[in-house]
Amino acid sequence: MKQIPLASLLLALSLAPVAQAQKKPAPAASATDAKMKQYIDGLMAKMTTEEKIGQLNLVSVGFDVTGPVVSKDVDANIRKGLVGGVFNTYTPVAVRKLQEMALKESRLHIPLMFGYDVIHGHRTVFPIALGLAASWDLQAIEQSARIAAEESTADGLDWVFSPMVDIARDARWGRISEGSGEDPYLGSRIAEAMVRGYQGPGNDLTQPNTVMACLKHFALYGAAEAGRDYNTTDMSRQRMYNEYLPPYKAAIDAGVGSVMSSFNDINGIPATANKWLMTDLLRKQWGFQGFVCTDYTAIPEMKEHGMGTDEQVAALALNAGIDQDMVGEEFLKYTAKNLQSGAVSKAQLDAACRRILEAKYKLGLFADPYRKVSAERASSTLMKPEFIAAARDIARRSMVLLKNDRNALPLKKTGSIALIGPLANRQRDVIGSWSGAGDWHQAVSVEQGLRAAAPGLKITYAKGANIADDQQMLDRLQAHGGELEIDKRSSEEMIKEAVQVAQSADVVVAVVGESQGMSGEAAARADITLPGQQLALLKALKATGKPLVLVLMNGRPLAISWENQNADAILETWFAGTQAGNAIADVLFGAYNPSGKITATFPQVVGQVPLYYNHKNTGRPYGGVKLDKYKSRYLDVSNDPLYPFGFGLSYTTFTYGKPTLSKSTIGPAETLTVSVTVQNTGNVDGEEVAQLYLRDMVGSSSRPVSELKGFQKVMLKKGESKTLTFRLAPDALKFYNNDLKFAAEPGDFQVMVGGNSRDVQMVPFKLVAQ
Ligand code: NOJ
Repeated sequence: MKQIPLASLLLALSLAPVAQAQKKPAPAASATDAKMKQYIDGLMAKMTTEEKIGQLNLVSVGFDVTGPVVSKDVDANIRKGLVGGVFNTYTPVAVRKLQEMALKESRLHIPLMFGYDVIHGHRTVFPIALGLAASWDLQAIEQSARIAAEESTADGLDWVFSPMVDIARDARWGRISEGSGEDPYLGSRIAEAMVRGYQGPGNDLTQPNTVMACLKHFALYGAAEAGRDYNTTDMSRQRMYNEYLPPYKAAIDAGVGSVMSSFNDINGIPATANKWLMTDLLRKQWGFQGFVCTDYTAIPEMKEHGMGTDEQVAALALNAGIDQDMVGEEFLKYTAKNLQSGAVSKAQLDAACRRILEAKYKLGLFADPYRKVSAERASSTLMKPEFIAAARDIARRSMVLLKNDRNALPLKKTGSIALIGPLANRQRDVIGSWSGAGDWHQAVSVEQGLRAAAPGLKITYAKGANIADDQQMLDRLQAHGGELEIDKRSSEEMIKEAVQVAQSADVVVAVVGESQGMSGEAAARADITLPGQQLALLKALKATGKPLVLVLMNGRPLAISWENQNADAILETWFAGTQAGNAIADVLFGAYNPSGKITATFPQVVGQVPLYYNHKNTGRPYGGVKLDKYKSRYLDVSNDPLYPFGFGLSYTTFTYGKPTLSKSTIGPAETLTVSVTVQNTGNVDGEEVAQLYLRDMVGSSSRPVSELKGFQKVMLKKGESKTLTFRLAPDALKFYNNDLKFAAEPGDFQVMVGGNSRDVQMVPFKLVAQ
């Protein structure tokens, strides 16, 4: 077995400059590859129609149920050659059992392909994607995917259902936790980094430690109306191209091997039946050569969308360009009939079957169906010490310091703290949702992390509140294995106990937020404040007069205005994974200086959502004059976010000089260079994420007030300053106009540089036609 030694892997990753992230890597082995074509031609010539249809069938079997129904008759179907892929099964033993069934007992011995929801790590769990994004650290993000590839392949997997690159601007949507947030530029860079991490830099999927990635959910799933999961999306093409599609396109350009269709309806056509999306855009415009699977039972769900009978929805999906049916079994049951009636063609079936077989070929499954999977490899790879160390480092990079008055943080390792809150001792919650192969018993809670880091500190724990009290919500969370621990005492009793504990401590550390099941799939919330009695608990703790440090755990931006006004410090930790508690301790005690910045705007109140920094100006922008009546604003709250996109503090301070430009007027083919000096003006070393935004002042279509076009994460020693250089190539000034033409329009622009999307310094420049 050839394995890349982790040391050289990490070295290679740490040497990869950010600029390289934007280069287009070599595409995955091309569909026209002559040898592959010859092999698959030969195989398909032997296949019956039924066997070809079988390749289009993806079944769920094994450890997890990730949708509303389960696949039946799996063994019999594998033997008959009626299964192309399996998901929710892993471990060398379980995979080998099914693979042997296919290889030994099916007529043509075609290997199965094994997929799984490896979303933010496999056995070693990293922060949820929204947390990873908050690191703004492409090397760390790539490294998390690389380790997930090492582990998942060692566990028998060929295929991971990640990256999820859906742009989301609505904090009510539970799946905002699974993506990179609201920005298309950052989302694109992260999409590329994830694909590179999973598939390896050369996209060689035959390597035993590379895994095929699956880009999801195509498309626009994050724009579900009202933030309610699976809901409708209705969007102009112009908005799609400028704001929502770039991360999908970036992953395609990076060579992602497969794509998953989304559940939602797009301008009246469900994604899974959407020929424009799956064929015209994805294949013809973007040149995608891999295969497309549906999301879980998305084909039969089209009956609920009102798209017709079983036969009809099966035909719609195949004709749209879908190749594989996840759990729905509509292709399996209705394609033969649809061929007879002429609703689908043989050519369409052959094309879909060929794409699945090509994926297996690219994975090397025909050459070695076990892909070097063995119990020995699994035991020497899964959760090895280097991976655990990386998980701790990546977790602390994802954390965002939202407030820190009078240096409440870092904490001292002496004296006493009252550790309060329903999440303070939770191992299950810290690994977040979609952490199926992660064993939460191996995760580190905040309490465990603090005790390990500061044995001399007196730590007294009180729960203080349940994570939620609303019985309906509790029932829903428990119904899907939420594993909540509900304290039967009254909330008054619990708060009273917590207050007593707080009174005898020097500092209160309150670990509050959401349980892991409150974000992720089917976990929309209409109220995004702290659930249950947690706010009442915080108010009582505040009344003790003790310094109040909040450690937040949550999978979405929360509306935490009271908390922001009243806590002395707030550390956003998301669901930080296997090493959460140790990483949180590193940050709280100052062993690591926080450097994360949020990538989804935090609103003051839920009524402001969707709230995002790159909005349009309107014809009546509110200028902050209170009595200005006819303006685009609310009567009861300002337009401001609680924390703007890109915001995050450090234990040190950074000062930005005025940006300077290489030229004040440029032509259409010229690259503009922007330089800015950033200085660490505080007392400790730290990392800063310098962000560059652009505003196109006049356009043939109205333009956003600001758009991220570059960023650099830079380490500055105490007192040190560095001059950073950003290059704005001609494409950075372009946008899709009303005719969907991608072009830059001459006129005035503003460059803005700063430590977040709000606190920036501006410099104008002009683009001229020649
Ligand atoms: C449904 C989810 O939407 C998708 O993200 C996931 O990959 C599949 N189920 C498989 O579990």
